[in-house]
Amino acid sequence: MPHVKPRHIVIDTDPGIDDAIGILLALASPEFSIAGITTVAGNIGIDTTTRNAGRLLAFAGQHDIPVFEGAAAPLSRPGPAPLNLHGKDGIGGVALPAPARPPESRPAVEWLADLLLSEPAGSVDIFALGPLTNVARLVLDHPDAAKRIGRIIAMGGVIAEAGNVGPRSEFNLWADPEAADAVVSSGLLLVLVPLDVTRRVRATRDFTAALSASGKPLASMVADLIESYFETSTHQESRPLHDPCVMLFALAPDLFRLENLRLSVGTGPTEEAGALTVDENGAPVQVAMGVDGPAALELLARTLAAF
Ligand code: BDR
Ligand code: CA
Repeated sequence: MPHVKPRHIVIDTDPGIDDAIGILLALASPEFSIAGITTVAGNIGIDTTTRNAGRLLAFAGQHDIPVFEGAAAPLSRPGPAPLNLHGKDGIGGVALPAPARPPESRPAVEWLADLLLSEPAGSVDIFALGPLTNVARLVLDHPDAAKRIGRIIAMGGVIAEAGNVGPRSEFNLWADPEAADAVVSSGLLLVLVPLDVTRRVRATRDFTAALSASGKPLASMVADLIESYFETSTHQESRPLHDPCVMLFALAPDLFRLENLRLSVGTGPTEEAGALTVDENGAPVQVAMGVDGPAALELLARTLAAF
């Protein structure tokens, strides 16, 4: 394979079992150089998501990647209760070491703004795996830095099927709809990877067993994480790998079908919060609306097993 210069990325995340899988996939991918991980409250509180980011880096032996703590609550409404789906520790109870170093003292959004201003414009992408509070703060408080982002690839929303927290609402956008609205309407290059796609990248128990059998540490850890995900939903034959789809899209866009849509975000206090509406007056967003699920899973397994 020809050597390709790795792309600078920042992972903004609320780990979270599927966030953890996405982070491990990014660590295993030579296509990415991770400048830092910024954390946000979402699946569970900010102390735990920040600690989980540090634990994952310690497990992978990546002691040079800094973790910056971000928003503890949405822009203007109370945060969600912790999701049982991810277990009491946010990460399914899997055995991970303690962080090898504490989080940095700088607030996540300040660090991100300085990073964007110090790197060439367009050279840093943001992979957003949680509520969009940090990214919205950047857009609102540091517009000159925000406009230097290469692109934002965000897991969030649902377009043509039912939501997972409301009839038309997906968790990440529902948890902070004002932030989602600020990011969607910012004019920045945004690729949204909604439930319509992430529900089609599903790990079965056979897939998980094959990861484990590879004997490779990251693949085995991802198998443990998926197993724990099964434990919170015993009646399911497979589990959707939402957040890793962001990394998979960046690695292999040809596996996805993108549509250019104009979207608006529901910001009402009702169960419509975070709902996306295709709207001719909405903001232009590239939305992944199709995926070759088996090929995406194969890429995930191959990347983890090669590390
Ligand atoms: C999203 O919500 C969270 O529970 C997951 O980590 C993912 O980011 C899926 O709706
Ligand atoms: Ca997440």
